[in-house]
Amino acid sequence: CGPSPVPAFFTDEARQPPVAAPDAPGHYTLTARVGRHSFHSEWPAVPTLGYQAPGAPVQYLGPTIVTERGKPIDVTVVNGLPEAGTPIFPFDQPDDDNTITAHRHGGLQAPESDGLPVPLQPEVPPGGSQTNHYPNDQAAAPLWYHDHVHHHTSYHVYEGLAGFIPHTDEIEAALPLPKGEFAQRFLLQDKKFNADGTLCYSHADPVFVGDLPVVNGTVAPKLSVEPRRYTFTLLNASDTRSYRIGLRQAGGGSADRPSMTVVGSDSGYLPRPVPVDELLIAPAERYVVVVDFTGHEAQNWVLTNGAPSLLAAMDEVDPGGGGIPQLMRFDVGTTTSSPDRSTIPPVLTDAAERPLLAGARLRTVQTAEEMAGHPMLGDRDRLLDYHDPVSETPQLNSTEIWAMRNRSPNSHPIHLHSVELRLIGRWRVGRWDADGKPVPGTIGPFEPPAAHESGPKDTFVSPPDQITAWAGRFAVAGTAVWHCHILSHEDAAMMRPLAVGDDPQ
Ligand code: C2O
Ligand code: CU
Repeated sequence: CGPSPVPAFFTDEARQPPVAAPDAPGHYTLTARVGRHSFHSEWPAVPTLGYQAPGAPVQYLGPTIVTERGKPIDVTVVNGLPEAGTPIFPFDQPDDDNTITAHRHGGLQAPESDGLPVPLQPEVPPGGSQTNHYPNDQAAAPLWYHDHVHHHTSYHVYEGLAGFIPHTDEIEAALPLPKGEFAQRFLLQDKKFNADGTLCYSHADPVFVGDLPVVNGTVAPKLSVEPRRYTFTLLNASDTRSYRIGLRQAGGGSADRPSMTVVGSDSGYLPRPVPVDELLIAPAERYVVVVDFTGHEAQNWVLTNGAPSLLAAMDEVDPGGGGIPQLMRFDVGTTTSSPDRSTIPPVLTDAAERPLLAGARLRTVQTAEEMAGHPMLGDRDRLLDYHDPVSETPQLNSTEIWAMRNRSPNSHPIHLHSVELRLIGRWRVGRWDADGKPVPGTIGPFEPPAAHESGPKDTFVSPPDQITAWAGRFAVAGTAVWHCHILSHEDAAMMRPLAVGDDPQ
């Protein structure tokens, strides 16, 4: 791909994906199809993928499905893509037979309903379907869903097979945070486009990095807001790129910045709100923030990005944003349509207790690059491929602390399926020995997590030359996966089985 054509920024209004209605009580149907979508009003509609709800047009991305605690649902995913042997996009790989899966990321569902890649689950061929059961017995959390087919997840998600599936509960319903039209979700991606506005994707590099920001399917949109508080769910659905978001007044103005307060992360609400100036969001991570535009009448605020395109050793904040310094713009109006009665309460939830670490088992895992640009995962002793025998086998209902040694030159967002986790903290490592273990005396002091990163999560930034430790109780039996959520890495087998079972360890 060459450089993308650059359309006018901040002209198109940001869209929210439509909310899907059940087609029977507790049942939803999503059909993956080829559709057409215009990523910018200056550009024509081009081929994309989406998940279609019955009677709805095919969207880029899928509709939003809202679930409630205590109300299980079933989602039937139908594969309406062309038959095997019919490439849909020029960059589809030759061995792609248009099979799909649909995985609810962050959901505590059994492996048979997890939309796993082969060989753990049969994938869905064109014309086939799969019904996944979601028990919804977990705390409110900003979950999402996406394709997870073996080897082809990266560009399937890029083409549009992803959506929001927020999970709600009574605790959330009682919180006085901004709601309804004052709560919005943004799916952040970076993309490349050809001169005719069609999607471009390249397999030439070990990872894919785009050069234009796309928010809910629109290049650099604007959102017209009222001078009041808003709740924003930010999801990084990019292949590789992390975002370090912040706010800057458009046109070089120097008004005080609207406050940004983190209230939730991947798997639920933080115990207490955490004000931040900037926020690093790696692939698959979600943060729920309250931004207060009160008093900012008639100002425009750009959502900025200060992260390099690939987080590597020694990265510092990059004001160039790795080629994407601005993502979208908030245009603040002059009046409110109703009084803002929302508040950010000092305590959000007491349900987010840390997992009890007494009796926890310590498990060491690692990542390193076998060849340049080809990172692998492993257990404490060796690097392993996706198809090697399972080595991570937590006992059902036991708590484990995982210590991830990252000897590779890059950061990797590591994700475990079907378990709610908390970050314990990190240690810098000066040197690794020939066996990949930290050289004694070169391990730095314990670095506790930042407050906004210490809530319920399912994906952790694991920086290079550091040990990153997290913990959780493995309460869903069966074999799922853990992997890097840089989708190109996941497709290149930076993924391992995770077998939770009854065998004593
Ligand atoms: Cu969103 Cu297996 O991941
Ligand atoms: Cu990775």
